[in-house]
Amino acid sequence: MEFISQSLVTERVTLYYPILLLMSLLLLTFKYFSSSSTVPPGPKRWPIIGNILQMGEKPHLTLTRYAKIYGPLISVRLGMQTLVVGSSKAAAEEILRTHDRVLSGRYVPRAFGGNRPEIDTISMGWTSECNGRWTYLRTICRSELFSGKALESQACLREKKVMEMVSFLRKKEGKVVKIGEVVFNTVFNVLSNVLVSRDFVSLEEEMTNGGIKELIRSGMEAASAINISDFYPFLAIFDLQRLKKKVEEVTLQLFSMWDPIIKERRERREEDATKKQDFLDAMLLNAFTDDQINQMLMELITAGTDTSTSTVEWTMAELIKNPKYMKGVQEELEREIHNKLVQESDLSKLHFLQACVKEALRLHPPAPFLLPRRAPKSTEVDPNHMDMSDKFGVTLQKKEPLFLIPKLRM
Ligand code: HEM
Repeated sequence: MEFISQSLVTERVTLYYPILLLMSLLLLTFKYFSSSSTVPPGPKRWPIIGNILQMGEKPHLTLTRYAKIYGPLISVRLGMQTLVVGSSKAAAEEILRTHDRVLSGRYVPRAFGGNRPEIDTISMGWTSECNGRWTYLRTICRSELFSGKALESQACLREKKVMEMVSFLRKKEGKVVKIGEVVFNTVFNVLSNVLVSRDFVSLEEEMTNGGIKELIRSGMEAASAINISDFYPFLAIFDLQRLKKKVEEVTLQLFSMWDPIIKERRERREEDATKKQDFLDAMLLNAFTDDQINQMLMELITAGTDTSTSTVEWTMAELIKNPKYMKGVQEELEREIHNKLVQESDLSKLHFLQACVKEALRLHPPAPFLLPRRAPKSTEVDPNHMDMSDKFGVTLQKKEPLFLIPKLRM
């Protein structure tokens, strides 16, 4: 029965395709030729598809190449979408500082809820406009998670989790270890302890349980994959690449991980409503709904784990590939820390290590376009007639490997 009704739907959808295609071609041609807004220079665009085929497998490198030809502020057309990219310090400042207020909205990828009106009321990372709700969420995060005082109060917890990782690695001496898995599990547990005072994964499961890591990574990949629905929004209802569906599945699985914790904490708070042990308590104190808590936890965990893990993994990989720099790091550790255990307060003394991490971030940026910005609907055109509803990104350019690392003190 279900099969029959599904095949009927498929048939209808197939029938609509030619009509939709024709309408879209007309719409695109009209939009393409009627656009009166000024856009920065860029490579020649093909009708309908624009520059999609020119982007290649690593679009941020392609755009860096175009920036050398067309200048620091360029534009490319991706289907119906225009992407303006800044590739110099001055251009980045224009986007992130001078026009910060105008470009305060985020471009919300279709797979990640673009088109979901409620996203603006519950999300911090994916708000299409900088509304009062977004400011409120940021204020809570700043004071409870990212202020100097909050970070200092979490230092013991981070040090404890790092020591657990070091002990685990000591036990594995002489054996092969997937460093990415171990770091991921550690970062995940650091975050989950700050947020809900729980470990979600065990380091021992590093080889067998790729589960959560795979879950988060597949969600991130689906959310950041090239999605035809972003280029041609009228196709979004079909979710042709099933990316939206994938993100929804991952999201529900993640929510189910901490659902019992939220329930239990709500019950506990009925007895003592003033107790504040972690970020979940802070959210409950601020009367967050379950939807808002789920979204916030999901955004913080997905934003924090893969980015931090890939940074550590790439730093290690670059150091292994460049033994001279690895020796520099080891010598600095011996000089500054001796045989003590490293503490967070020691980090300010480790200049060489810091330079290596920054270089790894520059060579392998976890978010190569940052999170593209756009203007909220009310302020779409600036005084120079540039359409600010376009997507604005910033690329990070590549130079010689390890170019910026200070000279080794040998
Ligand atoms: C190497 C590590 C990281 C990198 C490279 C990174 C990168 C970024 C970038 C480029 C943005 C967009 C900024 C903007 O548009 O103004 C961003 C936003 C964000 N990041 Fe990170 N991030 C990292 C670690 C973390 C961690 C550990 C957390 C959480 C504990 C986190 C949570 C967030 C959140 C919540 C936002 C959205 C903020 C907002 O909309 O106001 N990130 N991150």
